[in-house]
Amino acid sequence: MNKTRFHTRQTTFRQLEVFREVAVQLSVTQAAQALHLAQPTVSTQLAKLTESIGLPLFEQVGKQLYLTQAGQILQEETRALFEVLDRVEMRLAQLTGLTAGVLRLGVVTTSKYIVPGMLGPFCRQHPQVEVELRIANRNEVITRLMANTDDLYVFSEPPEGLDIVTRPLVENALVVIAPSDHPLAGRANVQWSDLAGDRLILREPGSGTRRAIERHFAARSEVIKPQMIIESNEAIRASVSAGLGIAILSRHTLAHAAPNEFVELDVVGFPIWNHWSLVYWRGKALSPVAEAFIEAVLPVVNL
Ligand code: PGA
Repeated sequence: MNKTRFHTRQTTFRQLEVFREVAVQLSVTQAAQALHLAQPTVSTQLAKLTESIGLPLFEQVGKQLYLTQAGQILQEETRALFEVLDRVEMRLAQLTGLTAGVLRLGVVTTSKYIVPGMLGPFCRQHPQVEVELRIANRNEVITRLMANTDDLYVFSEPPEGLDIVTRPLVENALVVIAPSDHPLAGRANVQWSDLAGDRLILREPGSGTRRAIERHFAARSEVIKPQMIIESNEAIRASVSAGLGIAILSRHTLAHAAPNEFVELDVVGFPIWNHWSLVYWRGKALSPVAEAFIEAVLPVVNL
């Protein structure tokens, strides 16, 4: 690497900012959209940065863009720089009585039904705050957490064995749903074994919902066999309503159902109770915006 050039003004924060977005999106087109820039501008900024560094930052395999080792190092080492700049911006804004800046949230797919309800009042109270909400399954959100990509995370199955703070938000109930003409609809105390003839639709491995369900059955020494795996709560709900089988989903995903779309069965041992938690690294220097969000959304009694 050409050290003197990297350290002189030839590398600008703008170039690093463009690089950061391309590294997250792994797409020049999407990075350009996210930054409200023209695609050639993004390409030019990247080319200048690559020239200063003297090593390629991305490589293209087929249509997919990947970070090179140099790109990974640049991404890891500049993350702290952006965190510092964000905090400077936010603290300066606080001097004028404003909570301003970016709130980066990484949340699991199922929690997307509750997070907007928390963001609404917060954003109305703090109109200067920009929100970046990334939604992915549990495994993918853990990857983001490990890379310290976002300020705060929402899980109902937080990862274990990490030095993280876990602050409970609201309860999450996983319930059994079936097509509305199911013979056991309306019956009390249905046994799980009564449903042995039904096709069970489950989320993919890597999903927190799937993990909670597997733990529930493992604790009862019961084995479950998914006969259909679908990576989306919405598609599972539609499949149940189309008569494809039964499923176990968070009750939060079932809101605003049309009449007769599906029924919730009264199965012994259900709901599986869990709760949503706000998660962040212990010892992380939280931005003022992240702190304001925590204060706004946590129940009055914090654990
Ligand atoms: P999922 O996570 O969206 O990956 O299923 C939900 C959860 O953590 O309960």
